[in-house]
Amino acid sequence: MSHLDLAVRRDPILRAERLNKVYWLGTAVYAVDNVTLDIEEGQYVLIKGASGSGKSTLLSLMAGIDRPTSGEVILDGQRLNVLSENALCAVRRQKVGMIYQFFNLLPGLTALENVALPIRLSGTPDWFALRHAANLLERLGLAERSRHRPPQMSGGEQQRVAIARAMANEPKVLMADEPTANLDSRTTREIRKVLVELNRDLGQTVVVVTHDKGMAEDAHRVLTIADGRIIRDEAGGAA
Ligand SMILES: Nc1ncnc2c1ncn2[C@@H]1O[C@H](COP(=O)(O)OP(=O)(O)OP(=O)(O)O)[C@@H](O)[C@H]1O
Ligand SMILES: [Mg+2]
Repeated sequence: MSHLDLAVRRDPILRAERLNKVYWLGTAVYAVDNVTLDIEEGQYVLIKGASGSGKSTLLSLMAGIDRPTSGEVILDGQRLNVLSENALCAVRRQKVGMIYQFFNLLPGLTALENVALPIRLSGTPDWFALRHAANLLERLGLAERSRHRPPQMSGGEQQRVAIARAMANEPKVLMADEPTANLDSRTTREIRKVLVELNRDLGQTVVVVTHDKGMAEDAHRVLTIADGRIIRDEAGGAA
């Protein structure tokens, strides 16, 4: 290896090493079974697999939302295992943006306030949080909806607000757990386009769990999970 190789080689932004999550319910359920995985910065990675195969569990472990039974996650050079609850919470807030099937917005807050919340929580002055949130909503085509509360918006609009919120602290990795499962096909195309553009235009690393077969077209890489294990790791349509 030359000096040049050393200079340009980057560590993966996300690394899972021999990751296990076992639930004890009389017998052992291996929700995630010995998964080793590197995700490179700028990659769009899709995770698919049957219901109950361990996709959401794997995503939660990689996001630092859940702790593994054994093995480790290294996110942007930070080993998550060694962190206290508070430190883990801070790393998660700074480095991970999460998007869910049911949007998980706070119903009493406006779109603008929902997006500004994680920025405020990271200790940023209010005026800046609100300005940054407004910019994000505009980028996602929602400037006109910023004073609406979630019940006053369509599903697709709510999901775009949730994406803006997930992007609020400029996360190292944007993760989504079945982000289109609750949307019609037209809105699904809209959300897919947003994720592709964030990846392509900003170089945002994206990891999406989905049952939507078409989404493999958008990804650089497609992982298939069965019984908690990665059984296939192949190129997606964007590779
Ligand atoms: N808190 C828990 N306690 C016990 N077992 C659990 C728990 N959470 C998940 N499991 C089990 O772990 C396995 C993986 O669950 P997980 O939710 O990760 O699957 P999934 O691939 O996301 O499924 P789906 O496509 O239905 O969302 C399942 O067998 C599930 O029953
Ligand atoms: Mg799931």
